[in-house]
Amino acid sequence: MDGADLLSSVSRPEYFDFEGISMIPCFTLNWANVQNFQARPDDILIATYPKAGTTWVSYILELLYFSKMGPERQTSLPIYLRVPFLEGLFPGLPTGVELADKLPTSPRLIKTHLPVQLVPKSFWEQNCRVVYVARNAKDNAVSYFHFDRMNMGQPDPVDWSTDLQKFMDGRKVFGPWYDHVCGYWEKKQTYSNIHYMFFEDMVEDTGREVEHLCSFLGLSTPIEERERITKGTHFNTMKLNKMTNYSTVPVMDFKVSPFMRKGKVGDWKNHFTVAQNEQFDEHYKQKMKNTTLQFRTEL
Ligand code: A3P
Repeated sequence: MDGADLLSSVSRPEYFDFEGISMIPCFTLNWANVQNFQARPDDILIATYPKAGTTWVSYILELLYFSKMGPERQTSLPIYLRVPFLEGLFPGLPTGVELADKLPTSPRLIKTHLPVQLVPKSFWEQNCRVVYVARNAKDNAVSYFHFDRMNMGQPDPVDWSTDLQKFMDGRKVFGPWYDHVCGYWEKKQTYSNIHYMFFEDMVEDTGREVEHLCSFLGLSTPIEERERITKGTHFNTMKLNKMTNYSTVPVMDFKVSPFMRKGKVGDWKNHFTVAQNEQFDEHYKQKMKNTTLQFRTEL
């Protein structure tokens, strides 16, 4: 079966309610093993709502810790094998838990999209470092829409206005964006090992954000190395890099939209109608009225 046949033969999953959030089977079928995952104290959990910049921060962390292992690691292993997706269970791959258990590196870098209340408890018990990246709701919704269009492993987004409504209703996979970003923000008040980052800050000044990451991680990476990493993780470089651009994943149809799509702040302006924007702002005010968390929707 060639790539095109494979894509047309895949039937998209339907959402169902799981532990109070909207989910699809590939993130729940291995649930007992996910919940019983044994974290180690030096594990680093990269937590995000989907499409907030997970791959970008994963690659930055990967280079900060492991670029010294030589170029082969960077040119032969796709990022999703170096930074396993904990709750993932995808055809043809070991489960995220198996991949994480088998990681030979220390620290282990582990990715999750789980909302804070569903993170396996061993991460908190071991006082693991957590790097959380949040992205403003409007750009996040747009990016998620295009991702679901091109990824046949995701539910069908139908069209932009239907999908935007789904986002506002909290019916996208991994549940409401609002609860996700606020959940980790609240957790940070009592659990100090969370570094809360913003996609917009990363776009504005990646070098500064890499420096802040190093302080959080206790790394004394020299400035020249940090600059190399900042350059090596630029959107245009990652888009061309087969190990970070997801072009090796068969269920993603790059003819519909590339994984590395635009990487911008403010692309929502090309999607929201005036009416959608007004309705979204009103709804957003209600949903976010009890938090101190603030986002920038333009730079
Ligand atoms: P867009 O669809 O807006 O382009 P995730 O890795 O969480 O799935 O997030 C993917 C989003 O992050 C995509 O957003 C992608 O283009 C963007 N992204 C990934 N790497 C980036 C980088 N180096 N610089 C800017 N944006 C990046």
